[in-house]
Formats: sequence, C-alpha cells, structure tokens
Amino acid sequence: RGAIGQTEVNLMKNQVTALEGQLKALQASFTKYQKVATFPGGRIVGNKVFITSGYEGNFDDLKQRCQQAGGQLASPRNSAENTAIKDIVVLYQKSAFLGITDIQTEGTFRYLNGETIVYSNWQAGEPNNDHNQEDCVEVYSSGKWNDKSCGEKQLIICEF
Ligand code: IPD
Ligand code: CA
Repeated sequence: RGAIGQTEVNLMKNQVTALEGQLKALQASFTKYQKVATFPGGRIVGNKVFITSGYEGNFDDLKQRCQQAGGQLASPRNSAENTAIKDIVVLYQKSAFLGITDIQTEGTFRYLNGETIVYSNWQAGEPNNDHNQEDCVEVYSSGKWNDKSCGEKQLIICEF
C-alpha cells in the first residue's frame, strides 16, 4: 500500500482533462438533439419531452401509438407541464387527449397507470360527463380541460 506517486497523479490529471472534453462535447451534442427532437411541435419540461406527430385519432388509437413509440399519452402533473401541452395544442389548432380517464370509476380521473390525478385544470362546469359518455380528457387551446367521449378524434401528444 504505497503512496500514490507523481506519475500516477499526472496520469489521472490527463484522464480528467480528457473526460472534461468528452463531457463538453456530449453536452453540446445533447443540446442540439434536444432542439432537433422538439422542432416544431415539441416542448421540454424538466426531464419530460412532450411531442406530437400531428396525427389525430380516438383515445385508444393515440394511447396505442404513444406506447408503441416507447412513451405514453401526455399526462401533465403540474401547471408547467400543462402549459407545454397547451402550447402544442395552440400550434396545431387542434385539441388533444391526455393520458387521463375515469373509465375505471365514473368521476375519479386516473393516469394510465391507475394512479388518481395529482393535478387538474378543468374548465368551469367540467367534468360534466355529458350524455353520460365522457370518460376521456381533452385540452383546449386555453389549456383548460373538458371531459369528452373517448371516441372523438383528437391530436396526439406523447410524453417521453
Ligand atoms: C359539448 C360542450 C359541453 C362539454 C361537452 C362537449 P358540443 O360540445 O362543449 O360544454 O361539456 O364535453 O361535448 O357537443 O355541444 O359540441
Ligand atoms: Ca364535458
């Protein structure tokens, strides 16, 4: 168990310098990919990326497509995330379905994993379960939510 010699110290210094350079290059590359990945209909909030392909379909279709891509339908857990989704709705001028429903228990809205929602942004008077057939949630260009029939066609927005 000898002391670390000057040679070893210098070797490690060189390795740290090399790693610093590699990290800097990686950060620059990552920043560029973030821009590419979110152009034009994407938003980054913290560790989440929200993005649309512009496709429109019913809830099951959209849910399937996000899952197929390795993500899930947008499931905002706070106002910053909801604003990001709203921005995409405004850009595409088409309301979007969230990954939130009360299919399991009428009146109790849950994420796709079954957890009850921790954040909501209902329009006044909603959710009203109109005609007793509204279990999905659409986001208007105002960012406000309305419960809506899952069979309606809406814009796809996935989160990754
Ligand atoms: C309905 C209304 C209602 C809302 C329903 C919508 P429609 O639209 O906007 O306020 O609660 O979810 O379906 O059927 O009158 O065009
Ligand atoms: Ca409604």
